[in-house]
Amino acid sequence: MTEFGIYVHWPFCASKCPYCDFNSHVRAGGIDEARFLAALRRELAHWAARRAQRTVTSVFFGGGTPSLMSAATVGAILDAVAGHWRVDPNAEITLEANPSSVEAARLRGYRAAGVNRVSLGVQSFDDSELKALGRLHTAAEARAAIDAARETFERFTFDLIYARPRQSPAAWRRELGQALRLAGRHLSLYQLTIEPDTPFAKLHAAGRLVVPDPEAALVLYEITQDMTERAGLPAYEISNHAAPGEESRHNLLYWRYGEYVGIGAGAHGRLALDGQRHAIANERQPERWAERVETLGHGALEMTPLSPAEQADEALLMGLRLGEGLDLDHLAAVGGLVPAPGTIDELMGLGLLEWCGPRRLRAARHGRFVLNEIVLRLASALEPALVPARVS
Ligand SMILES: C[S@@+](CC[C@H](N)C(=O)[O-])C[C@H]1O[C@@H](n2cnc3c(N)ncnc32)[C@H](O)[C@@H]1O
Ligand code: SF4
Repeated sequence: MTEFGIYVHWPFCASKCPYCDFNSHVRAGGIDEARFLAALRRELAHWAARRAQRTVTSVFFGGGTPSLMSAATVGAILDAVAGHWRVDPNAEITLEANPSSVEAARLRGYRAAGVNRVSLGVQSFDDSELKALGRLHTAAEARAAIDAARETFERFTFDLIYARPRQSPAAWRRELGQALRLAGRHLSLYQLTIEPDTPFAKLHAAGRLVVPDPEAALVLYEITQDMTERAGLPAYEISNHAAPGEESRHNLLYWRYGEYVGIGAGAHGRLALDGQRHAIANERQPERWAERVETLGHGALEMTPLSPAEQADEALLMGLRLGEGLDLDHLAAVGGLVPAPGTIDELMGLGLLEWCGPRRLRAARHGRFVLNEIVLRLASALEPALVPARVS
């Protein structure tokens, strides 16, 4: 696989949204940006020394809220990437931004620094819903940020959260219609997940926050598939929609089980080190991560060599999310294992899986709604591929 990505995690937010369990922290006293930049550069150098021969095809600044970084910091990180690796001239460089007016005003600076794609966390176009989600921006600011993104970048996308408390099919149709009128060629539509240990989880447990039941959520999901398909933005992954050719190159790399470096607090990476694929997970707490990098050169807490079965599990979990499906020959090449034909047939009989090429398997439309169960069934039925071919 030619794709090779760099993920940069900026673990700070202006405030913590009550539904969110991303590794994001609020620092009332301000952020020592110079210290975190120095640590990010040091961590990049560490991994570059071990995997210098690759060509970078995508960089993704995620968070947290990377749009709290100055354009100079973003530029310095991109310069460091280009100093260590060859960078594909068509590399996709994405930055996640919150749609407050302050952050929207920084978009030009990010473009000058080398960013060529922006992803805005819009979440809703309704002010009272934004308030209920704990967001700091208004719907008008979100629309203004989308306009600014469209003017500044050839490629932009935004996120919405649906299946929110009391959301009716009619209300979601209206909101999604509005989103599709404002969208570029990519859109991410996430169903609200009640994440453990969040304020939403406590309210939910106390019966004070009621989300649509699975049947109601399925109706909203079907509306989502129908409307986005008709608008020319079909799902290429469970929650991600794009015009053909406009998929996020960086996210495709994850789902196709490619190789990437993760830097920053709590970042994950998947790297072939001495021909063996490793899972790398960084310390999550930002200041402890920085200290670790300052002493060791990297912030990794775990560097785990992945067995063939673990690699097959991960590749299944990722690949089945995709509209293009999972190539069974690629799966066999990754871990030497493929799911037993009987289990595949059984899931096909239930209408949960379908073929989308001679050896390509994907979750059928209804299957995407119960993907975790499908992956568990297939992962428990892995057996040696007839012609196992290992790749590193
Ligand atoms: C790292 S966050 C995005 C960046 C940015 N901090 C923001 O919030 O605008 C990525 C996206 O995940 C989605 N998200 C986060 N928590 C979620 C949850 N509990 N349920 C559904 N979507 C969620 C939101 O749409 C969010 O924009
Ligand atoms: S949703 Fe975005 S802004 Fe809100 S806490 Fe999570 S990462 Fe931060």
